[in-house]
Amino acid sequence: MNLSISPIATLRGRLRPPSDKSLTHRAYMFAAIADGSSVVTHPLRGEDCESTLKCLAAMGLRYEWLSPDQIRLTPAAEWNAPDGPLDCGNSGTTMRLMSGLIASRPIEATMIGDTSLSRRPMKRIVDPLRLMGAEIEGDKPPLHINGTSLHAIDYESPVASAQIKSCVLLAGLRATGVTSVREPSLSRDHTERMLTACGVTVETDFSDGFVHRVAGGQRLNGFEFTVPADISSAAFFMVAAAILPQGGLTLQDLSINPTRTGILDVFRQCGIGVEELNPRQELGEPVADVDIRPASFLKPFEIKGALVPRLIDEIPVLAVLATQCNGISTIRDARELRVKESDRIELVADGLRAMGATVETFDDGLAIHGPCKLTATKIEALGDHRIAMAFAVAGLIANGRTEIEGAESIGTSYPGFERDLESLSIL
Ligand code: S3P
Repeated sequence: MNLSISPIATLRGRLRPPSDKSLTHRAYMFAAIADGSSVVTHPLRGEDCESTLKCLAAMGLRYEWLSPDQIRLTPAAEWNAPDGPLDCGNSGTTMRLMSGLIASRPIEATMIGDTSLSRRPMKRIVDPLRLMGAEIEGDKPPLHINGTSLHAIDYESPVASAQIKSCVLLAGLRATGVTSVREPSLSRDHTERMLTACGVTVETDFSDGFVHRVAGGQRLNGFEFTVPADISSAAFFMVAAAILPQGGLTLQDLSINPTRTGILDVFRQCGIGVEELNPRQELGEPVADVDIRPASFLKPFEIKGALVPRLIDEIPVLAVLATQCNGISTIRDARELRVKESDRIELVADGLRAMGATVETFDDGLAIHGPCKLTATKIEALGDHRIAMAFAVAGLIANGRTEIEGAESIGTSYPGFERDLESLSIL
C-alpha cells in the first residue's frame, strides 16, 4: 500500500492516540499466566498485539470480547503445546517476551515471523534462557523451544533492552531461585510495574547499574486494566504540531511513564512547550493529558546515553524534527536502531537526504543539519511502520506530494493513522 501525503497549513486539535503497544502485549501475556480472569479495556487492536493474542490462544488462553473495546481473558490451567508454528508476524516483543514464558513451561513450540522479524537478532534472549537451562534452537527466527524446568541466573545484559529484561524476568517467575537482570541504563519498566501491580515482588537496585530481581514460584493475580495511549504513536502528531506554523495539540490519556518520555525532554531542549495535565495512575502506570505548544524558534537537540532507551522508537520522527531545528542535532549511542523493524539509521538518513536534508550517519546514530526546506519525493518504508509514519510527517511540510511505499505496515501499531491525520489537519 502507498500513502500519499500533501502539505498542510497546520495541525491542531485534541487526540486520544491508539492504546499503548507495549502495555497491551504485556496485559495479554500477564493475563495468560495470572490466577483467574482479567479484563482489559481499550487494548491496542494493531496487528502486533493481535499476534500476541493469537499465539497465547493457541496455547490455551481463552478470551471473549465483552464489547469492541473490552476483552475478558481466562488463562488455561496448564498451557498446551500449539498445533502449529506460532506466528509472531512483525512483532519482536511477541517473540522475545513469549520465549521466556514458553521456555519455562513443559511444552514444545516453534515461533516464526515475517521477513523483517526473521532478520532480527534473537541470540540476545536465547543466550540468557540457555544459561537458565532452556532448550532452544535458532539464534534468529524461527525459534524452536522445548520448554523445561529452569534455574535462576544473574544476567548482565549488554544492552538496555526491555525485551531482554522482560524475557528473563518472566522466565525467572518459574525458575528455581532468584533471577536478576542488570542493564546498563534503564529501559522501559512496564513489566516491573505491571507485575508489581499484579501482586508479584520485583526488587530493584539502582546503586550500581540497574538491577531487577524476581524470586521463582510467584503467582500473578488477575487484574482489570484500562490501557492508556501510546506516546510512541502520539509522537508523530506531536512532531507535526511542533514543526507546522501555529500548530498545537492536546493528547488525552497518554502514558507518561518516565522510561518512555524522552521525547518530552527533547521537546524541552528545542523550546517546544509541554504541559502535563490531570495526572493519574493505571495499574502502576502514570497517565496524563499532555499539551504541546510550538516554539517560535526551534533549538537543535542532543540525544545520547541514558536518554536513548527512553525514546528509542521515536528517533525516526525526531530526526524529522531535527531538519527544522536551527543548528545541528545529534543522536548517538543508538546502535540498537540498526536492529529494529529495519536499519532505522540508514532508512532515516536515505529518506531525509532524498528530501534535501544534510545528514551524517555514524555506526550508532545520526547528525542532522537544520533548518532545511524539504522536497517531496518517493520514500521506501521497507515495511517499517515507524519509518512510514515519520516520513508522512515530513511530507506535511514538504513542497509537493510525498509518496510512501510499504505503508501497510502502519497497521502493526497505528490502525487509523490516516483518519487521525485527516481529522487534525488544517488545509
Ligand atoms: C519494547 C521495547 C523496545 C521497543 C519496542 C517495544 C517492549 O525494544 O523498541 O518497540 O515492549 O518491551 P528493546 O527493549 O529491545 O529496545
